[in-house]
Amino acid sequence: MAANRTLTIIKPDAFAGNKAGLILAHLEKGGFRLIASRVMKLTQEQAGEFYGVHKGRPFYGELVEFMTSGYCMPMVLERDNAVLTLRDAIGATDPAEAAAGTVRKLYAESKGKNAIHASDSDENAAREARFFFAETDLIR
Ligand code: RTP
Ligand code: MG
Repeated sequence: MAANRTLTIIKPDAFAGNKAGLILAHLEKGGFRLIASRVMKLTQEQAGEFYGVHKGRPFYGELVEFMTSGYCMPMVLERDNAVLTLRDAIGATDPAEAAAGTVRKLYAESKGKNAIHASDSDENAAREARFFFAETDLIR
């Protein structure tokens, strides 16, 4: 995947709260372009593998349970400096610590139920995009 692309997920809390469109509009206003999207419910296996880096952490079970609790919306987004710009745009993990105007400050309810995921490196963005999408699903 091109280095100017990143992977995001509208998490089950935000999707169930009908915030997917508002969040995408917010990101589009921030210069991101939608490259691929789908709506799905993750299985325990998928959520566990996706967040496998956190296996063994105290919040892992709660995280897998939350990520499988409803529908979510993985998306590939594109803009220059995509990974770092999206991390800035979503804000801190805990919405109480997120900067004003960030997605989590606007739409998240708690550190666990925090509305959105974003890849944290180009390498993880490519891996996470492959997790949800075939190369032919992406706009070329
Ligand atoms: P994400 O991977 O979802 O974009 O979030 P992040 O980088 O900001 O945070 P990370 O440390 O990777 O944690 C992944 C997700 O686990 C949940 N979490 N809960 N209750 C807790 O202390 C806690 N800590 C993390 C959050 O849903 C977080 O986004
Ligand atoms: Mg993370």
